[in-house]
Amino acid sequence: MGVILGIESSCDETSASICINGKVINNEIASQAIHEQYGGVVPELASREHQRNIVPVINHVLTHANINVKDLDGIAYTRGPGLLGALLIGSSFAKSMAASLNIPLIPIHHMKAHVLAHFIDDPKPDFPFICLTVSGGHTQILRVNSATKMIILGQTQDDAVGEAFDKAAKLLGLPYPGGPMIDQLSKEGDPTRFAFNESDMPDLDYSFSGIKTSILYFLRKEVQRNNEFISENLHDLAASIQHTLISMLMKKLELAARQEEINQIAIAGGVSANSGLRYALEQGASKNGWKVFIPDFQYCTDNAGMIAISGYLLYEQGEFGDLADSPLPRMPF
Ligand code: KG4
Ligand code: ZN
Repeated sequence: MGVILGIESSCDETSASICINGKVINNEIASQAIHEQYGGVVPELASREHQRNIVPVINHVLTHANINVKDLDGIAYTRGPGLLGALLIGSSFAKSMAASLNIPLIPIHHMKAHVLAHFIDDPKPDFPFICLTVSGGHTQILRVNSATKMIILGQTQDDAVGEAFDKAAKLLGLPYPGGPMIDQLSKEGDPTRFAFNESDMPDLDYSFSGIKTSILYFLRKEVQRNNEFISENLHDLAASIQHTLISMLMKKLELAARQEEINQIAIAGGVSANSGLRYALEQGASKNGWKVFIPDFQYCTDNAGMIAISGYLLYEQGEFGDLADSPLPRMPF
């Protein structure tokens, strides 16, 4: 029997989830709208919001799952990577709760949890599988050998792809976070209308900083000629930017699959909510004979469901942490 409480507080979502014997029962998320007006996450404000939200969010999942704190067998929490002040709230809470209940504490790596979100719902991948992990802070191609053994085959050498979506959106004058808005606008745009240079990196690595500069220069030039250029072409611009980013992601993913001779392909992280990427993966499945795994929307962006399931998988293996573990904003993979 394993009843695990998962707590996520690495960035701007305070989230809690209960996992009972490998089944995620609920996933409550308190989002922080306050950052919108600043065009990005303000770390100090994120920390204060976590402080305000953490007790109600945890109480909610316990009540909803009809679980008394005394029924808990372990507490899983995001140890890193993330914002220090934000991680401190979740980790301090998890530690004091685990200490008072005298139950194991299970520290979780946020990016590995994004990958393990694939073990929440069926169909679940078999090991080994390839996972393209795409978020606001990371872009990695992983070979996932087990719940604890993941090898980085390639990764971005500069910006993450989520960051590229957000920065491009900012250049288009869209509010933060711009990734979902680019996705939305793309649905009515022509993805081949504008071409942006895809930077190429050796092997399975990525670079996304160049595309931002190329969009910036392109827009500057066009806006000088026509002040209304962006508003008149917003859908086509969004679709063309999205198309370029997805094409870059897919090329290396296909290379990795061929190189590793693995045909089970998964995506994870916030950008895996992108409808264009989800479609490109389905196309990759029919083209390459892949079996693809795409998480449910609620488990793409930050959530505690993925922390609770990771906690359960580590709990089964007896991989526990210590009350002395401090949060790791740059937690190594
Ligand atoms: O995993 P996540 O929620 O937080 C981090 O751990 O970073 O990822 C957030 C990132 C943001 O850059 C956001 O713009 C992007 O995921 N994102 C999207 C979409 N939904 C979220 N990007 C493109 N299309 C989307 N639908
Ligand atoms: Zn994340």
